[in-house]
Amino acid sequence: MFRKQTIKDIDLNQKVVLLRADYNVPLDGEKIADDFRIQASLPTIDYLLKQNVKLIICSHLGRPNGKRDTRFSLFPVAKRLQSLLNNVSVGFVADCVGEEVNQAVDKLDFGQVLLLENLRFHPEEEQNNFDFAKDLASLAEIFVQDGFGVVHRAHASTEAITHYLPSYAGLLLEKEVETIESVMLNPAKPLMAIIGGAKITDKIDILHRFIEIADYVAIGGAMANTFLAAQGVEIGKSLFDPKELSIARDIIRKSGAQSKKRNFALILPFDVVVSKAIDNKLPTRIIDLKTHAYSQIINYPKRPPIHDVKVLKDDIILDIGPFSASFMAGVMQTCQTVIWNGTMGVTEVNSLIGSVGPFAHGTELLIEAMTGDFYHTPYSLVGGGDTVGYLSERQLIRCFDHVSTGGGASLELMGGRKLPGVEALLNRDN
Ligand code: 3PG
Repeated sequence: MFRKQTIKDIDLNQKVVLLRADYNVPLDGEKIADDFRIQASLPTIDYLLKQNVKLIICSHLGRPNGKRDTRFSLFPVAKRLQSLLNNVSVGFVADCVGEEVNQAVDKLDFGQVLLLENLRFHPEEEQNNFDFAKDLASLAEIFVQDGFGVVHRAHASTEAITHYLPSYAGLLLEKEVETIESVMLNPAKPLMAIIGGAKITDKIDILHRFIEIADYVAIGGAMANTFLAAQGVEIGKSLFDPKELSIARDIIRKSGAQSKKRNFALILPFDVVVSKAIDNKLPTRIIDLKTHAYSQIINYPKRPPIHDVKVLKDDIILDIGPFSASFMAGVMQTCQTVIWNGTMGVTEVNSLIGSVGPFAHGTELLIEAMTGDFYHTPYSLVGGGDTVGYLSERQLIRCFDHVSTGGGASLELMGGRKLPGVEALLNRDN
């Protein structure tokens, strides 16, 4: 149960509300490449506008290092909000504190929206500066935190501001925290965690937590290379982090100990897709890491010479292989819950001929198993970050039970950490 007061717990009629959203959206020049986070903020905005408030919205975008840099302007977001909120006037002001902002707020009417410029144009935002927070707070009577993606940061607009205004959770924040906490605390079992991405250190907390609570942990992405290298497998020129080898060994050891105590398995890829570079024009090979038995498709049904069925010194592992992906997909079909964070291969490279890139087939097969109409469809929770970017591009977000808008925030919450921007809000029993 969510322990914080939300916007449903107070009378908001004719109040001036400052809403903190996370509109840190990918931009392509001035175009919004993916508006998932903007769409996700709409239920809170709709609810607040129905309460007849004056609505001021603030957010960060990117990392402009405390300087005004128009490449990180929120103006494109204001335009998108205006087109999504048909009959509502959405204004924009080119700063987030100061005289110009005060004047724009004075002119704001009930039922209207004003988006402020990027908070991170001021270095004080990331410094959790109290004077800056006080200036922001002076714009409104009530603060609403709905930027789930940023509540793992103690910044002026997530922490300090709550010292100056009564602070409540928005509907997105409530939904994210409630969903992720209840799945982590009380998942329908068996539970499978699928963890990909580049670095083990980014995901070390959740790896340890999943070894405790999950029935299966499957690893893919570049982090799998570090696990393979830790077991002495040749990985050629593949991306891996030598500093993480001992962490990988520790996780393998801990997993082995769990497997002796109960039904638990750590699943590492046993076949991989390699190429000589991250380039969709180059040929790929599937390598069976254990028996070295597969043929190159190009030579099929002849067996290629033995050196070709191993990962060579100049090969780069770019995806999990089809047999590992099928195995993971099969295990998933026995599970009631799947939590997924991180793609299994390099999904950013487009295909020359179809919609699925040459190194995205492992990821696609798992998506199919999570969402397809098979023997059994498990409950699926997707952690944010790059995984969501891929799903959004493939227009697959709606196929999952919950896709988080937070990258780092969802990882920290799943890892059992407290989120400063949530902790700072009013408790239910206050
Ligand atoms: C995110 O995209 O993960 C959030 O908006 C937080 O951004 P940050 O990592 O730059 O603080």
